[in-house]
Amino acid sequence: MTLIATDTTDDEAGFIKPNYPRNCWWVATTSKQLGREPLALTMLNTKVVLFRKEDGTVAVLEDRCPHRWAPLSSGKVVGDTIQCGYHGFTFDAAGTCVKIPSQAQIPGRCKVRAYTAVDKPPFVWVWMGDPEKIVQGPPADAEWPADPNYSSWSGETLAHGNYMLLKENVLDLTHFGYVHATSFKILDWVGAPTVTVTEDQVSFRQEFKDCNLPPMFAEVTAIGMQRKVNRYNYGSYVSPALNVATLDIEDLNAAPGQRTHFKFRVAHVTTPETPTRFRYLWFGGFDIPNMDPTTLSMCKTLTEVGFAEDKAIIEAVHRNIMEDPRHLDYPEIIVGTDQAAIQARRKLQAQLDKEKSD
Ligand code: FES
Ligand SMILES: [Fe+2]
Repeated sequence: MTLIATDTTDDEAGFIKPNYPRNCWWVATTSKQLGREPLALTMLNTKVVLFRKEDGTVAVLEDRCPHRWAPLSSGKVVGDTIQCGYHGFTFDAAGTCVKIPSQAQIPGRCKVRAYTAVDKPPFVWVWMGDPEKIVQGPPADAEWPADPNYSSWSGETLAHGNYMLLKENVLDLTHFGYVHATSFKILDWVGAPTVTVTEDQVSFRQEFKDCNLPPMFAEVTAIGMQRKVNRYNYGSYVSPALNVATLDIEDLNAAPGQRTHFKFRVAHVTTPETPTRFRYLWFGGFDIPNMDPTTLSMCKTLTEVGFAEDKAIIEAVHRNIMEDPRHLDYPEIIVGTDQAAIQARRKLQAQLDKEKSD
């Protein structure tokens, strides 16, 4: 079956309500992607422009000039300010207008909203909510792609659907045998994982003992597909912005002196543009420093194929949701493998409820 993604699924009637907390760290982009040029993004239904100041720190402003509402991102960065490309009004990183070329006086209301950003490679995180509620320090669990002991690769795509569809997808990996039957070829993930819920996170764990490695892992580790190993898969819903997943490989049959343990990790980053559209940014990596470029390229290509398969099925689900008058109130059949996703939904709902009552 081939699923054709379309871009006709935006929810113009507003059937799908926003389900993203604003008081939360969200990933705007990768640290590498952001330079001195203005970068225009939509985050949580808000248009923002990002740029680096001369000292490298990040400025984030609403991307709408208060004069005639031109996007500031169509202008240019001058020193630590951004100059609107329409009539030259200039704003500093706090959103204060510091120059109106046509007059000396600057009206007090001539401001744009500024947002707090934290550049913690590999990600630039932005707080889109109440500045007084900022939680110090973004999720720490996404730092490994910047670790030199890992060889990592990454990608980004725009998907049509609510961002939780992706987060639920990566919490129920029984889809491997169907969605990724010809790409990742992980065909033995059929049971429900063990799920644990803590105050902050929802985690799953699944163990595969005395089993074979799927092709990508067999090739990268040089273990091959014949030798029996133990695989320990575990992952977490860390926050609305981030899910992480890990595969530990234990090779008890390795030859003497050979490496016996490997770690593969994935960071799934979702940033809603609207309730029905999100950017999906991901990093994959092995704890193998300086992996050879051909192997690294194979990993990246295969991950791109696999994640495009996820995107296709998610967008197909989204089209079904949008075409049904019940939208997100449609009835679902819940089974054991949905437990992590259901717990993640509860975690999110609790966060949304708290934000509403604060
Ligand atoms: S719209 Fe920005 S300066 Fe006029
Ligand atoms: Fe998948």
